[in-house]
Amino acid sequence: MRSRCFELIDRLEKDKSLKREEWVFLFEHFEEPGLSEYLFEKAVRISKEVFGNKVYTRGLIEFTNYCKNNCLYCGIRRDNRNASRYRLTKEDILSCCEEGYELGFRTFVLQGGEDPAFTDEILVDIVRSIKDLYPDCALTLSIGEKPRKSYEAYYEAGADRYLLRHETGDKAHYARLHPGNMSFENRRRCLFDLKDIGYQVGSGFMVGSPYQTSDTLASDFLFLKELSPHMVGIGPFVPHHDTPFAKETGGTVALTLFCIGLLRLMLPKALLPATTALGTISPRGREMGILAGANVVMPNLSPVKVRKKYELYDNKICTGDEAAECRQCLENRMKSIGYELSRSRGDHPDLA
Ligand code: 5AD
Ligand code: FES
Repeated sequence: MRSRCFELIDRLEKDKSLKREEWVFLFEHFEEPGLSEYLFEKAVRISKEVFGNKVYTRGLIEFTNYCKNNCLYCGIRRDNRNASRYRLTKEDILSCCEEGYELGFRTFVLQGGEDPAFTDEILVDIVRSIKDLYPDCALTLSIGEKPRKSYEAYYEAGADRYLLRHETGDKAHYARLHPGNMSFENRRRCLFDLKDIGYQVGSGFMVGSPYQTSDTLASDFLFLKELSPHMVGIGPFVPHHDTPFAKETGGTVALTLFCIGLLRLMLPKALLPATTALGTISPRGREMGILAGANVVMPNLSPVKVRKKYELYDNKICTGDEAAECRQCLENRMKSIGYELSRSRGDHPDLA
């Protein structure tokens, strides 16, 4: 007789949801022999049905590593005096886009710390300029928690998508990963505001973050089911040497892949990146991510001179490689597993 885990996977595929105690049971038994293989086979079948063998790409532009926040896990946290801080100018950002466009990217992701120097006025101007120059491209922002009014202003200026990981779906766990001035409630408020305004929204969490348990993981999946985002970015927690979590254990490849597979079954049409963090802890991490149900890769378009400085975690890959090299590298990697990089915007199937 097959174990309960296999039955739960079957039911997740059919109902696209599970109850809390069922999620907990799955996470507690995820290492059961044959279970991951069973899950990945289903997940890849679903992602092939929805996306074929195309992998969407996003060009990531890390435009500032100044941050007013102090998240305990993050290498660019405010209190890290060893971080060498930088800001790209509007002109720098536009030349990243130009290079990216020529390389075939049709989505740009502007990601940065929560940097007060980039006022809403400046951000709106940057968003407008990019959308004027590249009307056929999608623009994604990933710049943290803001008042609803700010989110509305960027959206009106032309931003299409927003990435804001929820980090953990458990309030008490959230409080152990963040300083006291940050709250799960505000994170939630941001995500629901973004969705309500009309953005394609991406959320996500770190796998294996300190104090994560099967129960907090269950909360992640229940939260994601409730939010029903268009995208979900997950990657392993990787310790950064200049943070309070320097000595903590990082997340594993096996659990990260398992979570990707579960996400594909729960949200069949979601955009799921095989993340840089996954590529960092394993040489073929991103390929394995695709073969567990992911369908997006996000290579870096930031100027090589600042790459090393956007160090959220130790040993981040691709910090010395030009954008063109990363594009080619990923093209080859995807080809090696029977996939192709897409040159489309890569919208969520319900919106394309
Ligand atoms: N390890 C892995 N991921 C991290 N992030 C931040 N710090 C780390 C780390 N040490 C992730 C967070 C954040 C995203 C931009 O990067 O989930 O939302
Ligand atoms: Fe950057 Fe491989 S993707 S070098």
